[in-house]
Amino acid sequence: MLLERARRRRATAPADPPDTKGLALKDAPGLRGMDHPNTFRDAFKSLGFDPDEQAALMGAHTFGKITAIGCSGQFKGIQKGPFCNKEEQLDPPIAPSQLVGNGCTPKLGKIGKCWKVGKCSKKQERKGKCSKKGERTLNPAFFYKNKRAVRPVSDHFGGGAFWDRTPTTFDNDYFKLFHQEDFEAKNNCCGSFGYVRQYKGCMGKGAMVDRKGKKIGGPCDHSWCRKDGGHKEVMMSTKAWAEPDHQFINRASAWGPTRKLIRLPGDWALLGDNETRKAVLDFAKDQDLFFTKFKQAFGKVLDRGHSLALCSAKSPSTMAPKTMPPAAPATTPAPPPSSDPSVPEAVKVLTKKVDGLESKADAWTYYAEGCGASPYLASMKGSFDQCATYCLSLPACFGFQQNNQNCYLDDDADQKISGRVTTPTSKEVALAASWHCAIKRQA
Ligand code: HEM
Repeated sequence: MLLERARRRRATAPADPPDTKGLALKDAPGLRGMDHPNTFRDAFKSLGFDPDEQAALMGAHTFGKITAIGCSGQFKGIQKGPFCNKEEQLDPPIAPSQLVGNGCTPKLGKIGKCWKVGKCSKKQERKGKCSKKGERTLNPAFFYKNKRAVRPVSDHFGGGAFWDRTPTTFDNDYFKLFHQEDFEAKNNCCGSFGYVRQYKGCMGKGAMVDRKGKKIGGPCDHSWCRKDGGHKEVMMSTKAWAEPDHQFINRASAWGPTRKLIRLPGDWALLGDNETRKAVLDFAKDQDLFFTKFKQAFGKVLDRGHSLALCSAKSPSTMAPKTMPPAAPATTPAPPPSSDPSVPEAVKVLTKKVDGLESKADAWTYYAEGCGASPYLASMKGSFDQCATYCLSLPACFGFQQNNQNCYLDDDADQKISGRVTTPTSKEVALAASWHCAIKRQA
């Protein structure tokens, strides 16, 4: 059995990072490269983005989430690792009234912000859920329900992660959370330092040490710590957390609605260059400045002069040219954002620039039926055009299905979308059906 497990582990060891030369976004170092912030600056620079614009674009991570099982790198188990167990030191801090022991009661599907004090068991220690048997634990509590079981008080962090304390809002909280951090905190491991798969890295369990093996205290002594996996390196928060509207999360009642915060290498790299670091600080102080720079930078992304619908990971030859044409002067005022409060802020920002793209005749193929399957890349409320706009902005989005105002965006993993639709139809016919599907037309 053990041998079998070891074999399986070896069999899943990741391949060497691919040669990134020639990729438009040079995205291969995206989930590694924590020690090489210049690779990110170089990539953004070669695309024509100055340091402020790079920081502003990365600030898009203020919105959204990392899914536990994602198309980009299997983030399953990313939440495991140490977390501070002192209520007053958490960010936001936990008040006594938020403790289950003091009467806080989690409710199904409702933001409760309840936490539970416990004691680390041997099994939890072994699984890396807490650091030492008998130690006091403090975990977010929620009403657990899946098809087989109901537990009114379950307590653990949900799988996956958010980037800031307000993941449903496009704001500058992303910057506020790490402008004061030292880039070198990347050397603080969440656990011990040793072999992670075939190379040395930071583990998620064991006593916290630096990358030279020196003890560095516990999670309450830091705000972020590093975890390395076979093909990804991340910084996880040790004090900051978020519990957004449960509707925002796939199966919140089964996977847990409260999550730790994360920084990918491309996020942390902003601290490793003097100019991007200054931008992080400026945006943390001034949200309007962030919005202005984001609009400018995202405008450049969209003005690259190619149909986003033609982007396909499967056909790199269709990718955009690597050099950026000069940005068009911003003379045309953007249309006003939708005032519908159910539309995510990020979509409103995106919609300003990409309105009209959806209507391009060659952008979409329509079906008068549903498509896709859970887990989705994202779900949102919005009009067909707003969902199409958002899907076009996400390179991994292959298409989406819509019913009323609910849209489910998806990649095409295992042909879960393309394998389900049958007969293409006109946009009018598709939109008249209660469930309809739109797929980005490939070149
Ligand atoms: C170094 C560059 C970047 C890397 C490596 C990166 C990586 C990622 C990863 C791994 C996810 C999680 C996907 C999932 O689990 O489903 C993600 C989500 C996201 N990224 Fe990035 N990203 C980068 C830059 C950007 C930029 C420039 C933007 C926009 C201007 C952006 C916007 C987003 C958004 C909105 C989400 C959330 C999606 C959701 O909630 O479904 N990212 N990114």
